[in-house]
Amino acid sequence: MSGFSPDWLALREPADRLARNRDVLAVSALYFAARPRVSVCDLGAGTGSSLRALAELLPPEQDWTLVDYDAANLKAAREVLTAWADTAKPQGEGLLLEKSGKRITVRLWQQDFGREAHWPESVDLITASALFDLVSAAWLERFVAALAKERTPLLAMLTANGEISGHPYHRLDEQVAASFRRHQTRDKGFGPSAGADAARLLEEILTENGYRPVGGESPWMLKYSSLLTETATGIAGAVAETGDIPTDTLQEWLMQTCLPGKTLTIGHRDVFAAMISD
Ligand SMILES: C[S@@+](CC[C@H](N)C(=O)[O-])C[C@H]1O[C@@H](n2cnc3c(N)ncnc32)[C@H](O)[C@@H]1O
Repeated sequence: MSGFSPDWLALREPADRLARNRDVLAVSALYFAARPRVSVCDLGAGTGSSLRALAELLPPEQDWTLVDYDAANLKAAREVLTAWADTAKPQGEGLLLEKSGKRITVRLWQQDFGREAHWPESVDLITASALFDLVSAAWLERFVAALAKERTPLLAMLTANGEISGHPYHRLDEQVAASFRRHQTRDKGFGPSAGADAARLLEEILTENGYRPVGGESPWMLKYSSLLTETATGIAGAVAETGDIPTDTLQEWLMQTCLPGKTLTIGHRDVFAAMISD
């Protein structure tokens, strides 16, 4: 399964759903609770899993703009959202959905925001899931400065924080995790990636720009499953590219990680941030 393919995003969606930090989501929901309508822009939307996770928490009328550079993901988003909704019909280039009493319009934007992200005017909330560990510190600075100019709140979910730990413990767990964290800092199209530091850095930069971030952990606790196998295989593949660990040793770690009885924890962090005076 390739990096951000619709198949991979579908495989991870149930684990993401379980992992999203309930306290952070509750604060986001409270922030918008008094409004009848909200407009949201989801950056790096993939097939729209943030929309599916957040729709029930947000006001009855929702306008979503899903931004991604991958045409295959946006095509899959249209199909998956249509199947997910109670009713779905085309609206212009996008969709009009009804789901559990919510009326949701969806626009699909194909855009590469590697240099700079753009969002529709007067959007009420920017969201992103599993995105910010890909971006660079400089990109985060530019992004938060643009956000702060408009005083727009941000809900950033599932930013990988570099924690990879196995239970029961394997003697190579720490070495694999350290090597994977080094690999995470490679350029993913946004400049040298902030990787494992991204979540901490994002909260610092938000605070410096006048936001009051409310953060919490959102780890995956992976048991014997295809998601565990795919995740461990992806980690081993990245570590192999670094040359840090000999291939046969890495194979041993992979085999012993993908066994019934093993739990692999992959750390993430969620944060909701609004301006202090809001
Ligand atoms: C790890 S996936 C997360 C997808 C989705 N948010 C989710 O949680 O299922 C990262 C997404 O960011 C998109 N992406 C990565 N780099 C991008 C860029 N430079 N411009 C626009 N989208 C990008 C990918 O196509 C992919 O859909």
